[in-house]
Amino acid sequence: MSLSGIIPATIPASAIGTDITLTREDMKFIAALVYEQAGIVIREHKEAMTRGRLARRVKALGLGSVAEYCAFLKTPQAASELPELINAVTTNHTAFFRERHHFDHLRREVMPRLVQERAGRRGRIRIWSSACSSGEEAYSIAATCREAIGPRSDLDFRILATDIDTDILARAEAGIYPADLFERLPADVKSSMRLEAGSTRGDARISEELRRMVAFKRLNLIETWPMKGPFDVIFCRNVFIYFDTQTKASILDRFVALLSPGGFLYLGHSESLPQPHPNLRLIGRTIYERTA
Ligand SMILES: C[S@@+](CC[C@H](N)C(=O)[O-])C[C@H]1O[C@@H](n2cnc3c(N)ncnc32)[C@H](O)[C@@H]1O
Repeated sequence: MSLSGIIPATIPASAIGTDITLTREDMKFIAALVYEQAGIVIREHKEAMTRGRLARRVKALGLGSVAEYCAFLKTPQAASELPELINAVTTNHTAFFRERHHFDHLRREVMPRLVQERAGRRGRIRIWSSACSSGEEAYSIAATCREAIGPRSDLDFRILATDIDTDILARAEAGIYPADLFERLPADVKSSMRLEAGSTRGDARISEELRRMVAFKRLNLIETWPMKGPFDVIFCRNVFIYFDTQTKASILDRFVALLSPGGFLYLGHSESLPQPHPNLRLIGRTIYERTA
């Protein structure tokens, strides 16, 4: 089907019986709504992907078409659907020890200094995984830091892990993953990723000890944040790619305000600062140190 103003759709098997045609007007409406709610920029070439993601919501709500879904989103009753829409359009790709150099920097450069500075007086160490997706990043941080902290109990250590997507956060909190994800980890980090004994049906669960190190919460990066900080390290990886320059600059200023002087910000491999920041110094591959 190819009509003027209508984008041809490849209908996935799961959506048979559902009309997932997305008009340019509805695509613009969805893009504007998602930008307003989450700061995520949906570019025109993502139309096919957007159609597929909206089809999930159309089906879940028992509607007949994407057009009906868009019409529903314009009604006052749709307020409770907005989080579901955001859950549907987010990209959650992640992995344990993804972009390994950040965990190496954390283990070799950051944690030994923090432990030495703060041990003995219940010193506080805080790390924030600010777009944590299904939790692999936060548990990789926990595994890395647990090794550095060892059995000592004279530190107040916590990881805050946040994301906008409530579905993915529920998975993160459960801490259950296909066991082969752990099998495939490089040998030197594999042993640090403690798992519960007795995995079932090909799944394995992160140990309670590591799970207790992390607090998962819903947080939208473009809204106000309840935390006061300071954080010693902030991971903000592979989410800036979805934001425009203005959104990135405003979030970055707020990260800097929450980072302790000498603290570190890690960005994703294809990300950089929207513009040089007077209080951040690039000290390694996508590693920034707060200078003042
Ligand atoms: C590609 S994942 C990155 C996961 C992990 N940081 C990594 O690098 O492997 C991007 C995550 O950003 C989240 N996200 C998108 N917009 C957000 C927003 N406005 N506030 C908080 N999280 C957001 C998505 O839900 C998704 O889980």
